[in-house]
Formats: sequence, C-alpha cells, structure tokens
Amino acid sequence: MAVSSALWVGFLIMIPTSSAAEGTLAEAAKAKGRFFGVSVLAGQLDDSQYVDIINKEFSAVTPENSMKWDATEPSRGSFSYGNADRIVSSVGEGKTLRGHVLVWHQQLPSWVKELSGSDEVQQAMDDHIAAVAGHFQGKVDSWDVVNEAFEGDGSRRHSVFQDQIGDGFIEHAFRSARAADGGAKLCYNDYGIESKNAKSDAIYAMVQDFKARDVPIDCVGFQSHLGSSAPGGFQDNLQRFTDLGVEVQLTELDISGASPDAYSNVVGACLAVSRCTGIIVWGVRDSDSWRDGSQVLFDGSGEKKEAYDAVLNTLDA
Ligand code: XIL
Repeated sequence: MAVSSALWVGFLIMIPTSSAAEGTLAEAAKAKGRFFGVSVLAGQLDDSQYVDIINKEFSAVTPENSMKWDATEPSRGSFSYGNADRIVSSVGEGKTLRGHVLVWHQQLPSWVKELSGSDEVQQAMDDHIAAVAGHFQGKVDSWDVVNEAFEGDGSRRHSVFQDQIGDGFIEHAFRSARAADGGAKLCYNDYGIESKNAKSDAIYAMVQDFKARDVPIDCVGFQSHLGSSAPGGFQDNLQRFTDLGVEVQLTELDISGASPDAYSNVVGACLAVSRCTGIIVWGVRDSDSWRDGSQVLFDGSGEKKEAYDAVLNTLDA
C-alpha cells in the first residue's frame, strides 16, 4: 500500500501542472484592444465563486435579464431598476457595460402586447426607451436597442411593434435611444446572422439604408448562440458589416459542446476584424447557462474548461 501510493504520488508530480496560457481573458483581450465579458444573472450575485470569476476574468458585463422590459417596466409607467442597478454597482464597476435590451418581442409584459394603434405603441416604446436609457445614461457603453426583429428568411418578424407601427419602428427606436443617451453606442442585435444568409443580408441592407439616411446606428450585435462548430464565413460577414461603418460585437456567445476549436475559431474571427470590438459569453459557468450541457468557459464547479484555454491562447496569439 505504502509503496503503491508513493509511486502514485511520484507519478502525479511528473504530470505537467498546466499547459494553459497565463493571465486572464480580460487582460489578454485588453492587449488586443477588445473587451471580453459575460452575461450576469442578478440571482447569482450572492454566490462568491460566481462573483470572483466575473471580477477576475471579465472586463465587460451584460445583465442577462434585468434590463429587459418585463424587469424594468412591468406595468405601464412604473419602473424598477433594482436588479440591474445591483449588477452595475456590484460587478459592473470599471467594466464595459452592454445594455440589453430596449425593444424585443420576448420578456415583454402583456400590457405592451395588448396595446393597439400605431400612436399608442410608439408612445409606450418612446417612454420606455427614454426612461430606461435615461436611467443608465453615462454608464452603458453599447445598447441593444432592437433585438431579433427579423425572421430567418429576411422578412420582418411579427410583434406588437412591427404589426402596429410598421417597418419604421426600428428606425424610430434608434432615434429615441439617441435622444435618451447621446453617448452610448446603439446596436441592432440578432441570432443566426453569423454567416452570410437571407437574414444577415436583410440586416445588412437595413444598416446600409440607416447609414445612408443618417439614422443613428453604431453597431451590430451577433448573438452567436452556436451549434457545435464555428459558422462558415463568419469573419467575412463581420467584415462586410464593419465596411458599412458600424462596429460589430459578439454579444451572447455560447457553443454547444464548447469545442475548444470552435471557440478558438470564433474568437479568431473577431480578432481578425479591426472593428470587432468585443465579445460577451452568455453565462459564467455551465450551471448558469440558459442552454443545457457544456456551453461556456467554466464548468459547474467553476473550473476553467479546455475551451477557456483555447480562448485565452487565441487572444494571446
Ligand atoms: C435568455 C436568458 O439567458 C434566459 O435566462 C431567459 O430565461 C431567456 O432569455 N436572445 C437574447 C437573450 O437576446 O436575451 C436571451 O437570454 C437568449 C436569446
């Protein structure tokens, strides 16, 4: 027994302690002029491991749910910012803050969905944007002004905003957001647009039109909720958007299975595009992720995964 355990200890000592790069995601991204952030759940802020990982590794945060309409204006004209404020003051200090989201068809209270008439919906939308963007004015680096307004075929998605106001609702929301916070970058944010396809083409055409008519838009957020591999042509697609004069950001990155190669490819695509200014991973640990299984950079025990090493090495390369 004594001999075999001595051998075992001897064997363990010979294993190289780590092949990972040194440093943190935040530092490595900073050296490349980018932010590297994570979405934050207000309900996890009492978990010290959760907070420690955010503070050590990440230079940006997005409230995962706490700035959404159902959280901030659950009934008309009555605003609540408690959880969002808590995120901003507890883990947001000194970090880049992404505001998510002003206008979206989900996590939308029923009182908004029940409004009818263009004027009524527009008024509610304007009031919401003025109040929420106004409240966080000076703190938010980039706002997701409108989220997921397009279908996969490039048509507009039905929502109370689309159906009551019409195609002009997106432009209107961006103008209201600029009026409420003249300092924040204003983003359109969507999923399934990482490759060139009907949906990304439609958003490209919208951004081109907004730029031509001086509608205030500063960035496009590529959510990047990905299947098991990196999307084809991601870098070229990011590049064509930045060629229109907007920034791009990867705003909600998670990858099914958390393949280190896929993570490395996606981070590399952003680094290869000079105006791809930062990346947010959607969830700290797998146990915090909205998707099941292995998705993000830390496992359920808070340990760094292989995907973490792949991302850090790519940022350091
Ligand atoms: C998700 C959150 O992660 C979940 O906690 C919540 O229950 C539902 O919303 N696109 C978005 C995000 O823009 O706001 C969504 O976040 C994921 C899809």
